[in-house]
Amino acid sequence: MDSFDLLVGPIGCLVPCDGPAPRVGPALRDLPTRSGAAVGVREGRIAFVGPWAEVADARASTRLDATNRTVLPGLIDPHTHVPFLGDRSAEVRLRLEGKSYMEIGRAGGGILSTMRSVRQAREEALFAAACKTAHGFLRQGVTTFEAKSGYGLEPGTEERQLRVLRRLDQRGPQRVVSTFLGAHFVPPEFKGEADRYVDLIVEEMIPAIAAAGLARFCDVFCEEGAFTVEQSRRILVAGRSAGLLPRLHADEIEDTGGAALAAEVGAVSADHLMAASAEGIAAMARAGVCATLLPGTSFYLRKPYAPARDFVEAGCPVALSTDCNPGSSYTTNLLNVATLAVFGMGLMPEEALWAVTLNAAYALRIHEECGSLAVGRRADLTVWDVPSYLHLFYPYGDMPLRTVICQGRLSWSSCPVHGPEERS
Ligand code: NIG
Ligand code: FE
Repeated sequence: MDSFDLLVGPIGCLVPCDGPAPRVGPALRDLPTRSGAAVGVREGRIAFVGPWAEVADARASTRLDATNRTVLPGLIDPHTHVPFLGDRSAEVRLRLEGKSYMEIGRAGGGILSTMRSVRQAREEALFAAACKTAHGFLRQGVTTFEAKSGYGLEPGTEERQLRVLRRLDQRGPQRVVSTFLGAHFVPPEFKGEADRYVDLIVEEMIPAIAAAGLARFCDVFCEEGAFTVEQSRRILVAGRSAGLLPRLHADEIEDTGGAALAAEVGAVSADHLMAASAEGIAAMARAGVCATLLPGTSFYLRKPYAPARDFVEAGCPVALSTDCNPGSSYTTNLLNVATLAVFGMGLMPEEALWAVTLNAAYALRIHEECGSLAVGRRADLTVWDVPSYLHLFYPYGDMPLRTVICQGRLSWSSCPVHGPEERS
């Protein structure tokens, strides 16, 4: 007879989000579910997905009843700005009074404000801040997230941020995928000499970070007031030659041709895209670039939402993310972001759920490891106290998350982890 470390079942509504990645076009409207199902876990991996009746009598060290509950893969956030610290709450008032995000940045606030806090912080303080944010994500059911440098803007601090992320990944329980974003903003030492800062990135920072294996991706904030298309191209191509996969903050505030650049350099993902043009969308679709959309940023900056329907209809893979950062979108609540995508951007609930599971994993090229509930995948599961996935979008602003299983372990619960039903 089978034996499991953990057996979840019977499950009222199992949403495995499995199948080939990425999920695109009309297939995004179809989100298969199973009732009366079970998931068995062994050594941190999924060992069984199928009818409860087949495993009800199996030996299991721990059992988790999910009657009348919905089970999804652990959510995946493919774009965050962890690690950061410092307080930019005063910017909220400035923005509400009419100052734009980029105006605040140009005046020395914004990204440069967080840069000052991060440059001053010792590695332990930065690590402690990152652990706190990671726990915030865990409480929202996020079992894997992308995270990046970009608040150092000088070699030593950029590397320190990436070392913190490596420690965070090693510590667990969540998996952390790292990105080098040295080109987040032109630092004060290079004011008016962005090209010289780009030289430093291309000639020193990328080779050192790639050699140390500190990042998987290379990203650029391609935006009026940050880096031009030409500078972004230079950085992404240099990163690619060093083995860092390109991704891009594209057309976040203005249409600067970032989406087209993402297609040209074969980026795995272009992110934000609130101002993307029709030509940019078509180019991304042709090149198979994932559109990672961040409706929390539109909400928080009071900007229009990205044209999500156009991306879906063009056949682009679409993923959703919090953009968690202290300036333009300070949240770890990915379900809330999915809710904004549904009610603000016009995605259907099914599309939004693919976008925070399998397609989010695809945006990080880890879809063979996680993002779906299938045998062999990492045992990252979320158990929600709702009878069907549609109920995740029915009351809004609530957090009906009950239990988070990360790499096969009970990692978070809205009731004590050793409550009666979780006991072996
Ligand atoms: O994705 N736009 C660039 N970077 C972030 C914001 C970072 C910050 O404001 O600290 C973003 O919106
Ligand atoms: Fe961002």
